[in-house]
Amino acid sequence: DRQKANSMWAYKDFFLAGIGYTLMISALSVCLGLLLGIFLSLMRLSKNSWAKKIAGAYIEFVRGTPLMVQLLFIYFGLGIVVNIPALLSGIIAVSLNSAAYVAEVIRSGINSINVGQKEAARSLGMSRQLTMRYVIFPQAIQNIWPALGNEFISLIKESSIVSVIGVKDLIYQSRLVQADTYRGVMPLVITMILYFIITFSLSRSMKYFERKMGHSND
Ligand code: ARG
Repeated sequence: DRQKANSMWAYKDFFLAGIGYTLMISALSVCLGLLLGIFLSLMRLSKNSWAKKIAGAYIEFVRGTPLMVQLLFIYFGLGIVVNIPALLSGIIAVSLNSAAYVAEVIRSGINSINVGQKEAARSLGMSRQLTMRYVIFPQAIQNIWPALGNEFISLIKESSIVSVIGVKDLIYQSRLVQADTYRGVMPLVITMILYFIITFSLSRSMKYFERKMGHSND
């Protein structure tokens, strides 16, 4: 009956499926983005000027164009040559985008370490690599780790763009519920609350772990 059809609880499976897709895309993309981001930072730290330029250009370009255009380009543009399914296109686009942001996170983590640390290690006779590995990186990772958690939270929100190519994430599901119930606002409110529950609990547990590791800034 009408009452039941309009009850949002009747649509819980839609929202759950959406949360599943959203979390899956964000988690996969933050992992793939981390791998590629590490690779980009290594390129940028290397002495090879070509590697440096290519990594720099990639980071600038990806951060200077909207994720939505990148997504549409991978799905429709590359689609002329190879047909990549929507879900895969979404994961590729969000991962490639995230890599550029992760590379910046790693760069700023490394830059945040006082040059005195490097100078001291180098004057003790440590090589560039040893200095990086045993002096700079162990300190930098303490700034990088929390920033990566923030990137994961960003991706949970930013990945909502994949709904435009038909990936069945939380936003896409809220559209389905709107269409099915003829209710415009209620599904949006629920979607907003669900996103907030996810991001809030993630940022809370990040704070908890930071405090446990003793690197909290507050
Ligand atoms: N919404 C912005 C864009 O379309 C930011 C994307 C943020 N991406 C990230 N990996 N944190 O470009």
